[in-house]
Formats: sequence, C-alpha cells, structure tokens
Amino acid sequence: MDYLEIKGQEPLKGSVPISGAKNAALPILASTLLEQENVAISGLPAVADVSALLELLEHLGVQIQRHDSHTLEIGTPHITNLQAPYDIVRKMRASILVLGPLLARFGSCAVSLPGGCAIGARPVDLHLRALEKMGAHIHIEKGYIIAKAKHGLKGCDIILDKITVTGTENILMAASLAKGETKIINAAKEPEVVQLCHFLQSAGVEISGVGSSELSIQGTKGQALHFKPIHIIPDRIECGTYLCAAAITNSTLSLSNTNAHHLEAILSKLSEIGFKIDITEDTLTIHKARTRKGFEIITTEYPGFPTDLQAQFMALATQCEGSSLIEERLFENRFMHVSELQRMGADISLKGALAQINGDCVLMGADVMATDLRASSALILAALVAKGKSRVHRIYHLDRGYESLELKMNALGAKIKRLKEK
Ligand code: EPZ
Repeated sequence: MDYLEIKGQEPLKGSVPISGAKNAALPILASTLLEQENVAISGLPAVADVSALLELLEHLGVQIQRHDSHTLEIGTPHITNLQAPYDIVRKMRASILVLGPLLARFGSCAVSLPGGCAIGARPVDLHLRALEKMGAHIHIEKGYIIAKAKHGLKGCDIILDKITVTGTENILMAASLAKGETKIINAAKEPEVVQLCHFLQSAGVEISGVGSSELSIQGTKGQALHFKPIHIIPDRIECGTYLCAAAITNSTLSLSNTNAHHLEAILSKLSEIGFKIDITEDTLTIHKARTRKGFEIITTEYPGFPTDLQAQFMALATQCEGSSLIEERLFENRFMHVSELQRMGADISLKGALAQINGDCVLMGADVMATDLRASSALILAALVAKGKSRVHRIYHLDRGYESLELKMNALGAKIKRLKEK
C-alpha cells in the first residue's frame, strides 16, 4: 500500500489545472448502457473510481476504445452480461448507477447492493422504491438487487423523500427509456446532475426543469439512445480542495479549468474568511489574505455548502482566527478526519453532528490514516502547513477521486513523496 510523506510549511505558488468531475463522469459513463452506437467522451479524470466503473462496464459487455487517459469512445451495441458482481461493485459504490440503465434497456438485471462506507450507511432504498413505482419488480437475494421489468418501465410521478444525487441520476436514466412522462419531484440540482440531463437531451430525450428540483422526462418507449460527444465539466470539489490548499498555507494560487458558477457557496465562504478571489473565464486566482477569520458552515444539498468540502474546510479552520463551527447534515459519520487532525494537534470538539474548531493552532507533522476520499485530502492540507514531516497512510482512498494530487501539489512548490509501506 502507498503512503504520502509530506514536508510541511513549504510556500505554494503558481497555477494548477483542475481535472474533470468524477461525479459527472460516473453517471455519464453509466448512461452509455442506453446507447446503441459509440459516443466520444473527453475530459475524464484519471482516477480509480472512473477506472472501476469502466471495468464494470466492460464486464457487462460495453465496448470501450481508450484514446488517452482522459478520452475514450464507448458504446453498447449488445450486452453479454446483466450482472454487476459484488467484487467489482464493492470497490466503487456508485456502481449502483448501472441499475437504472440496465433495467430500462434490457428489462432485467442483478446488481450487488453497494453496502455502506466509512461516512455512512449509504442506503439505496429511494432508488429501488422509485423504480418499483415505474413498474419494476425488485427483490434482494444473497446481497444482490434482482430487478425485472418484462414489459418495460412506465413513466409516473416520483416524489423523493430525501434529495439524492445518484438516486435522481438513476431515475433520470430509467425514465429516458420509459413509456410516457416521469416527473421527479425533490430532485437533486448538482451540476453533475445537470450535465447528465444535457447528455440525455443530446440523444433526443425531452427533459424540462433542468437545474431545478422538479424534472419532467418524456421516455422513448424502450428505443435505445444515440448520444452526441461530451466533455466532462470541471471537478468543483477538486477545485475547492486546491482553493483550501492556497487558503491553509496562505498562498496566492491560480486554478485553471474551473467553473465559478458551480462554486458560489465556497467562494462566498472564502471571501467571508478574508480571501480575495479573482474570477476570469475559466480561471480562479485566490490571493494571500491579511487575516483569516473563523467561520460557520452547515453542509447541505447544492447550491448550499457541499458535504464533500466539509473535511477540507475543517483543516483550514485550524489556521483561522478564533473558533469555527461546522455542522454535517448529510452523512451520519463524516467526521472520521477529526481524530487524525487531533493527532496533529488540532483543537476540535465534537457534539453529535457539530464540530467546534479552535483556530490559531500550530499543527505538528505526524503519522495519520486516511479513512475516506475527502478526509484524505483534508489530512494532506493539514500536513502542508504542519511543522515537520507527516505521513498519510491508506491513500488508496485519495486515488479514488484526485488525479495525480502529489504531482499537482509538487508543481506548486509542495514537497510530497509517494512511498510504499514497508
Ligand atoms: C453523491 O453520493 C456523491 N457521489 C457524494 O460524493 C456526495 O457526498 C453525495 O452525493 C452528497 O452530495 C456521487 O455522485 C458518485 P445521496 P450519493 O444519495 O448519491 C440518503 C465524493 O466524495 N439516501 O445524495 O450516494 C443518504 O444516506 C462522494 O465524491 C437515502 O436515505 O448521496 C444521505 O444521507 C462521497 N436513501 C443523503 O440521502 C437513498 O436511497 C444524500 O445521499 C439514497 C440516499
């Protein structure tokens, strides 16, 4: 297993390119199961979650021609296998995204239940209930979701009890081939959901309300789709992570290939803390701040403050003046990074879903362990500003969603080495 050794307190400067959004790439790749011929997808991030989904799609019989690590052609003229096996799904829980398209296109599939992860139980009950309402017969057998829709899926009104990103995406893909209209009420509005809608629209699927919490989809009655080529949107969470790298080391950095419209909550929080950020077409420049004030965050669905940047801002809070408060409202166990930050000297107290972080803290380098994707990036941010050396272990978590993080950081002046556990 790899770990990262980070020498703290190195100044950062220069410009960093942001990669394509992992959470836009995953549903778009899954939706190619609805595709008859080939379609070109570019701007993909070279991260483990995307490789894991491509491995699953190839296992199902999808044809993939890779042009380079960010571009491929993909199509599903025929499928040889309708089972998404446990040993692949367990590596990447968003594999649940093949359920909607497989069921809609082929009328039957078996998808391993994704199970929970470090940050929470991550149930998929809302996905299953919606598909049943569209006419699917679903039961769980030996850890697999067995779904059938012999006569195809039928459009209907679906009111989601909770806002679910991949749940909205699964229903969108299923509804695209259903008979009649499907309305999704209380739909997720994340930019990644919007790009999936645009991709489906490019194949002629009529969708209204894109970007709102009420979507209406006219299905093609089982007719396979033919998508237009697509370039994946920039990763707003990776971008927020590098903005935090600049903020925690109090450096001036430029970030290219960004979309400021997807980051309004983050940009407003950083300016409240004391940072001036210049915005041009696709570049953000964050400037060193005279003072960095403590802040309050409540994580919520888009366009609110994203839960996927909660850990990174917690690391930043250790360097701000006074104390900060962070409330995690989406996941029941998304504070696994707290104990690791405390090992570095952070002064954080927890009360249920509320964390209080006392700032002006001198962090000391230490051995720490990554527990989940975003926690691992938070530990690296803390190590960048800590005195001495840190070692962040189990960085397979990091590799799931950050492309070449140590190469990008070292190009900015960081001193990070990727080493092998003895
Ligand atoms: C997506 O996960 C993202 N993953 C997550 O990013 C992100 O943290 C999350 O949305 C919230 O923004 C992808 O897009 C691949 P949810 P998802 O369904 O869709 C509950 C990262 O770091 N819920 O929106 O799995 C659930 O327990 C990852 O890149 C149900 O109760 O999240 C949670 O409390 C981590 N039943 C809330 O809804 C369901 O059937 C939001 O979950 C589905 C969800």
